[in-house]
Amino acid sequence: MDKKEMVKEVDLARVSAIVSEYKDEKWALIPLLQRIQNEVGYIPPQSIPMIAKNLRLFPSQVQGVISFYAQLYTQPRGRKVVRVCRGTACHVRGGKTILKLVKQQLRIEEGETTPDLEYTLETVACIGVCALAPNIVVGDHVYGHMNPKKLEQLFKNRRSGG
Ligand code: FES
Repeated sequence: MDKKEMVKEVDLARVSAIVSEYKDEKWALIPLLQRIQNEVGYIPPQSIPMIAKNLRLFPSQVQGVISFYAQLYTQPRGRKVVRVCRGTACHVRGGKTILKLVKQQLRIEEGETTPDLEYTLETVACIGVCALAPNIVVGDHVYGHMNPKKLEQLFKNRRSGG
């Protein structure tokens, strides 16, 4: 079993323990999903039948709720979310190049998470600080006037394998 598979097994066991506290409580679907999201970091797709069975729902009902709420994820998320702005102000000031370089530095595409679960890469329509364009957000911190050199500094630990 590779490391990724082992992580999945552990996550499923954690989900199972949480789900067992909500037996037959149909009303609890949303709070239960939020709790799994908070404690496990995502809702493993393999756990959907188990969640449904425990609450006496159809798997499609569980899936429907997960799809509806943007803050529920079926893939692991990185500890830090990197959001590259693709708004007009950032775009005209090189945002596209910044996104390309972030992808190169992190070796992931948009919507993906690094294998060490450190970063998830997303794009956003506008961060709201257009005067500082181009911008990226890492975790809670906004980095304005981004350029290749600043980016390299920001992720330099990764380049040295950290
Ligand atoms: S367009 Fe990028 S912050 Fe507004």
